Amino acid sequence: MATLSELTQQFQRLAAEEAGAIRGAADSAQLEEVRRGVFGKKGRLSTLMRGMGDLSAEERPLAGKAANDVKEALAAAIEERAAQIRKEELHAALEAERLDITLPGIPPRVGSLHPLTQTLREIEGIFTAMGFTIELGPDIEDDFHNFGALNFPEDHPSRDMQDTIYLDSDLLLRTHTSPVQIRAMQARKPPLAIIAPGKVYRCDTPDATHSPTFHQVEGFMVDTDIRFSDLRGVLEAFIHRIFGPDVTYRMRPHFFPFTEPSTEVDVFFARKSPTGALVREPLEILGAGMIHPKVLGNCGIDPERYTGFAFGMGVERITMIRHGINNLGLFFDNDVRFLRQFD
Ligand code: PHE
Repeated sequence: MATLSELTQQFQRLAAEEAGAIRGAADSAQLEEVRRGVFGKKGRLSTLMRGMGDLSAEERPLAGKAANDVKEALAAAIEERAAQIRKEELHAALEAERLDITLPGIPPRVGSLHPLTQTLREIEGIFTAMGFTIELGPDIEDDFHNFGALNFPEDHPSRDMQDTIYLDSDLLLRTHTSPVQIRAMQARKPPLAIIAPGKVYRCDTPDATHSPTFHQVEGFMVDTDIRFSDLRGVLEAFIHRIFGPDVTYRMRPHFFPFTEPSTEVDVFFARKSPTGALVREPLEILGAGMIHPKVLGNCGIDPERYTGFAFGMGVERITMIRHGINNLGLFFDNDVRFLRQFD
């Protein structure tokens, strides 16, 4: 049985000890443990207060006041420490998640035009500057526009299913952009000066030099008195603009059913051979010729009055020559490590 003075002393000891524990609590979990040790059902304060029952009626209020003072003091100390801990914990969290907003960001990579698009735009620019307009035709053609009107004989090998992708017995994916000549000449009368860029399709297995889809630019001019020398002048201007003024070229006789005479044009680039000597290698870049009188007639244009020239070039081929690319597949793989080189 404790006397009033013993009890009061015990309250004071409790106050002193627990105040130290409260200050020493390192985080909210430890503080909660201390709080339970004091204020919990089996805590030190409750235990001591139970001892008050043995005191006399006069002493009990005195002990009650001492208990209350201790209770309030400790509660206030806990609240104060809790506030401190909240601050410390917030500070630590902010410190841990600290962002250096002065670090430079990661800029988004800006894309660029595909090398084929770049070449195509240049080709279009060169010819529109010479007065040609741009016209498009359908990718799905019929036999007449792709072959018949262009003077291909019935048994021409390129009409074969081995070479041409047929959709049915008459419809096919155009194998060249020349059908746009037919559509334009049927729709309008000379003078005509048109280029026709677009996709063409052939039954080819993809490899370094073949693709079932590639791009051509067709060009043609029809008027009274258009001569082979006009074709030559236009092509020479084109070659020097796209490949540079130092590039030489040659026209080789060739055969196309829709032009007569016909030619293939090779360009020569000076290249150092492994022995160090300069070599000039001919690289074929386009087919061309004077539009066959039968083709003009097939389109309702009087071949006695009008003449014209036409040419067709491969956009992939010209891009490969310009950039020294040796694999056609690179254009279609869309590997950014390749494409990035053409920014
Ligand atoms: N159409 C021909 C080809 O695809 C190219 C060409 C066009 C040749 C116009 C002459 C005149 O090979």
